Amino acid sequence: MDENRVCRVKPLLTVLASACALATAVAQSASNPADYRPRFHFSPEKNWINDPNGLIYDGSEYHLFYQYNPFGDQWGHMSWGHSVSKDLTRWRELPVALAEEKGIMIFTGSAVIDSRNSSGLGRNGVPPMVAVFTGNSQGLQTQNIAYSTDHGRSWTKYPRNPVIDIHEAEFRDPMVFWHQPSQRWIMTVSLAKAHKIRFYASPDLKTWTPLSDFGPAGLQDVPNWECPNLFELRVAGSPGQSRWVLVVGVGDGAVSGGSGTQYFIGTFDGTKFVNENPPDRVLWMDRGADFYAPQSWSGVPPSDGRRILVAWMDNWKYAAKLPTSPWRGQMSYPRTAELEQTPDGIRLVQNPVREIESLRGEHFQLRNTSLVKSNAVLGRREWSDTMEIVAELQANGSQDAGIELRKGPAHGTRVGYDARKSVVYIDRTRSGALTIHPDFAARHEAPVKIDGGVVKLRILLDRCSVEVFAGGGGATLTDLIFPDKGDRGLSLYDMGSQASVVSLDAWNLK
Ligand code: FRU
Repeated sequence: MDENRVCRVKPLLTVLASACALATAVAQSASNPADYRPRFHFSPEKNWINDPNGLIYDGSEYHLFYQYNPFGDQWGHMSWGHSVSKDLTRWRELPVALAEEKGIMIFTGSAVIDSRNSSGLGRNGVPPMVAVFTGNSQGLQTQNIAYSTDHGRSWTKYPRNPVIDIHEAEFRDPMVFWHQPSQRWIMTVSLAKAHKIRFYASPDLKTWTPLSDFGPAGLQDVPNWECPNLFELRVAGSPGQSRWVLVVGVGDGAVSGGSGTQYFIGTFDGTKFVNENPPDRVLWMDRGADFYAPQSWSGVPPSDGRRILVAWMDNWKYAAKLPTSPWRGQMSYPRTAELEQTPDGIRLVQNPVREIESLRGEHFQLRNTSLVKSNAVLGRREWSDTMEIVAELQANGSQDAGIELRKGPAHGTRVGYDARKSVVYIDRTRSGALTIHPDFAARHEAPVKIDGGVVKLRILLDRCSVEVFAGGGGATLTDLIFPDKGDRGLSLYDMGSQASVVSLDAWNLK
């Protein structure tokens, strides 16, 4: 579009005119902003979104609230937008739940069902859904609550807000849960510039007592800590063992540039979080560039038992410049979080929720074959821009091999395994829209353990994103990509021509 503007203002310069002809031809084969509309990732019909907020399952619906600007496609007038789903996959957008009011923006927070009506905010025996959020005004961030007794359709802000005010400008993103052993509500909230997470307790969601602080720890050289989350998970394969996971967003300076998400593993006794790793150990939840401010759903019944997370699939570095319209911002596909014992200690394992299978359409498969033969078959057709791919590649000593997605004359996104570094990666240096930020064109890597030389990749491809779950979910990468509409090729590559395909399954996602 910029090229077109140049063309109009300098029509008489012949050199520029021929450059313009080229640019126009490129622009015509390129995607329109609306072509990037995700098909199975949540995006709002229009306008700006960032962090997921108030994730709660109320017994019949998954609620997804989110940072939302009702008035435009740039950050501002922050409110809580609202969507609901029965299957974490197909979302229905509802009116704004909590709107900015009197210059106070509604920043990130969480939601709980107060089933004992400890807050007294329930009506006629209906337990309230209580949202706990940061109120942001000039130079002040405070914690506030609002409640709903009609499944989140209408909300009342608590008249005696704020419920916590420590006269701080950088104090935000409360996440609240019921702590069964101590029979009280616990809040984790961030002192962003101090790189601390503060824990509070409350009997009724209205009066809060400070308990302890955690931090600084992990990566020190970052501007802020945001969006904390704390939850307990069982350790797979170790009966009776569990750990607490403390998730902390860093707004800038993360592993793949810009925003990213760290986590700490340890214990929480109802008062204090104790990190079981050395204080400077940095664990990243996702090593791509576009997985920020994740939250997990509260209220998922024990019979289901899953810890399900979703993140803003974006990065503060270039979020304002994404080439999409009339919306800007989208969520990652929901994923489960589990803990497993590894030689390095207990680590998170993440995989897409099984609901993805309900989208699987046409199925394609390859078994035990060479890359050359595979490519002869793969090259014969145009592939969908929304796919799930599950592949097992035998590296056979190859240094670098993988799958190239959304391949076209000028583009291609590589998801591969680099044996020299023992990493799985997304290479988006040729994925389109590289001008949105000088750092956008990059390769993002995650260390991965492979078994018997077999690299296991699970890939979710949507119109402007790639999520990779490698090695059974121990390594994850999430990146936005902006190829041209017509880039529909799919192929395998190998720098050493030794790799082969053990299996490849690809589904068009409906
Ligand atoms: C994280 C964040 C939060 C804040 C919100 C404002 O992305 O900066 O800390 O509450 O976005 O929109």
